[in-house]
Amino acid sequence: MMNGGIGFFDSGAGGLTVLADCLKYLGGGAVYYYGDNARAPYGNLPRSVMKKYVLEAFDTFAALKASAAVVACNTVTALFIEELRKKYPFPIVGVEPAVFPAAKRGGDVFVLSTRATFESDRLLSLCARARAAYPAAKIACYPCDGLAGAVESLLRGEANDWRKYLPAGAPTAVVLGCTHYIYLKEEISRHYRCDALDGNEAVAKRLKFLLENRERQPLGKNFAFLKPLATTFLKKGANCRLFLQKNRKNLRRISPKNRKIKNALNLYFLGSGRILNLKIHERMFGFNKKIVEMVKNPNFF
Ligand code: DGL
Repeated sequence: MMNGGIGFFDSGAGGLTVLADCLKYLGGGAVYYYGDNARAPYGNLPRSVMKKYVLEAFDTFAALKASAAVVACNTVTALFIEELRKKYPFPIVGVEPAVFPAAKRGGDVFVLSTRATFESDRLLSLCARARAAYPAAKIACYPCDGLAGAVESLLRGEANDWRKYLPAGAPTAVVLGCTHYIYLKEEISRHYRCDALDGNEAVAKRLKFLLENRERQPLGKNFAFLKPLATTFLKKGANCRLFLQKNRKNLRRISPKNRKIKNALNLYFLGSGRILNLKIHERMFGFNKKIVEMVKNPNFF
């Protein structure tokens, strides 16, 4: 049951937004969400430190014999995706800021990201290609130091003035180039009075395509999608077999209530932020609560 699961990685809670969109297309099996919230945000860390943390997460996916992984983080995609693809045996999907869909509309496009993404060759090259394809668009990139951290603290129920991290101006479209910013999608869109775009749907479709072609077995429509039925925590560095032995009872317990539906999807939270992310996932995606409600109620957790 644990073999062949799909790993999702982000420095913290941002990748849960990617996971939520991907879950629509996933059938049965294990899904791991590894969030390192205790050490997030990564966006201003030295590259070598960030790499060490990222490899810890991906080694865990490898130990769990993951069949695919999603880097649900623009920063880590921008800096390390090629290295990760070389090092690990499973296919890895990255996230890409929605610069092309925004540029296609023409007008003034703001691309908001962490500083590491902002300084990356990958974003530079993406914007250069989008400018060449859509010369009518004016694309400007901005590093939003502090914004990912502000979102993490909003999600912990601590109010803060996240607007101060946004660049001034009047864009006609905003690209959310960090998965953390997606929690503020509606608020950012209202702030600038224009659409805010993210690339999550494209990631979800890419993952679906990849799994279909790899397993030659259609996922999505043909499979029943179940909401995560229960969760189990796996400590960082834990041995996979030991984990399975210890959790045999739990694993049985989380089988679907409706026995007719065989393809249960089980979601496991890993990494230093596993408890926090479980709670955030339940609040934000399980019950569809808005971040503003959480801000109003700082004792949320
Ligand atoms: N969620 C991440 C991203 O998409 C990273 C935020 C951070 O840790 O700085 O870039």
